[in-house]
Amino acid sequence: MKLSVIGCGYLGAVHAAAMASIGHEVVGIDVDPAKIAALSAGEAPFFEPGLPELLREGVASGQLTFTTDISAAHGAKVHFIGVGTPQRADGYAADLTYVNAAVDALLPHLSPGDIVAGKSTVPVGTAAELAPRIEARGATLVWNPEFLREGWAVQDTIDPDRLVVGVAGGADVSTRGARSTTGDAGGEADVSTRSARSTTGGGEVDPAEVLREVYHPAVAKGTPFIVTDLATAELVKVAANAFLATKISFINAMAEIAEVTGADVTQLADAIGHDARIGRRFLGAGIGFGGGCLPKDIRAFSARAEELGRGESVAFLREVDEINLRRRDRAVQLVVDGLGGAVFEKKIAVLGAAFKPHSDDIRDSPALDVAVRLHGLGARVVVTDPEAIANARQKHPQLTYEASRDETIRDADAVILVTEWDEYRRELDPEHASTLTAGRVVVDGRNGLDAAAWRAAGWTYYGMGRP
Ligand SMILES: NC(=O)c1ccc[n+]([C@@H]2O[C@H](COP(=O)([O-])OP(=O)(O)OC[C@H]3O[C@@H](n4cnc5c(N)ncnc54)[C@H](O)[C@@H]3O)[C@@H](O)[C@H]2O)c1
Repeated sequence: MKLSVIGCGYLGAVHAAAMASIGHEVVGIDVDPAKIAALSAGEAPFFEPGLPELLREGVASGQLTFTTDISAAHGAKVHFIGVGTPQRADGYAADLTYVNAAVDALLPHLSPGDIVAGKSTVPVGTAAELAPRIEARGATLVWNPEFLREGWAVQDTIDPDRLVVGVAGGADVSTRGARSTTGDAGGEADVSTRSARSTTGGGEVDPAEVLREVYHPAVAKGTPFIVTDLATAELVKVAANAFLATKISFINAMAEIAEVTGADVTQLADAIGHDARIGRRFLGAGIGFGGGCLPKDIRAFSARAEELGRGESVAFLREVDEINLRRRDRAVQLVVDGLGGAVFEKKIAVLGAAFKPHSDDIRDSPALDVAVRLHGLGARVVVTDPEAIANARQKHPQLTYEASRDETIRDADAVILVTEWDEYRRELDPEHASTLTAGRVVVDGRNGLDAAAWRAAGWTYYGMGRP
């Protein structure tokens, strides 16, 4: 199928390359000429495992092209919108400027029967507002939220754990829902086709069925394919992120209680995590979540709920946000305490800059926030990261960066782990570290180090929510 992908950032570039790899003819479109130049040369403009290989193959085969020219979208059957929806500068709501601009630019190039599939994370109600403009062109809008995790984005795009497609007027949810949750690709095709058919825009187009064709390998292997109305599809995404953020802040709240009682939050997490209803994943206490999604998504959700007169329904997300941000303060305080009350002129080695391992994404990174705060207290902060130094330097040029882990910790008075890359978490031997540093203070901002091993090597070890 011929597809266009508008917006080629972390989501869109991976989506375009992944769709080409499963046999589609894809054009990726972005307003950033530097990004398009890199992608056209088969190079990934950011770090994402597996993406360079897909880009090279796709570009070499001619299945995958990139351009800044939106008219190249003409002739595609499905147009995916993957532009950014950052937090507005003047508040917590999502900035929909880029979504609106992308849709406006696309409209003249739509043909009757085309499908526009929104993938950006948007406030509930956005699709309903956009739909009339798209339907006026004889095309159909669906919302197809994206759940990929940076670091695993290629795999998550080709082989997701579920696919969600919201279609306008998708009132007949029961018929479609009953079929869709089984994830079967065959069977009741007639029922599905009839119930999901949209007559609003593209005449006899069944948008959900077209999306099934797009995602054919995942559909064939029985991946749950859930067809909803537009509002539900939009809400599924923000609800999922709100849940994940809440789970992280829950365990970080327990860490705060552990800190005043002498309890160990990692043991607590192990113990409650054995309960299948709770589960151990996302119960890692530490310096909290960050990145280009969770923080801005929970804030946008709160803002949208306020607009809808239901602010109280998600009022807890403010607490979730506050708990999350307090953990950064805590990590800074542990370094200060570990160094006897002041960090002025002390060398502090910061291990990590990205918001999580396997990514170079530094958007709202707790790691960099901690580094910047220590710098503000007068410390000589040196930051290292396997992939994110270039991005970090651009955003925070006042910090010192060092590519080598060992040079970063050389002569340091304290070491703080803030992003759990394996080279810091598993591969940094505390005995070896002792031969390089000036002091023996380590703050484990991710509870990822072997506390006993570090203590045995003579270090004063501070964890998050641990004695
Ligand atoms: N990154 C993730 O892990 C992830 C996961 C799920 C959902 N999302 C959502 O996907 C959306 C995109 O996120 P991202 O991380 O890829 O952001 P990003 O900033 O990396 O990419 C957005 C891209 O859109 C481009 N763009 C902006 N305006 C444009 C226009 N009018 N026409 C064409 N291109 C335009 C930008 O140049 C940029 O390359 C957001 O809504 C985000 O919440 C992201």
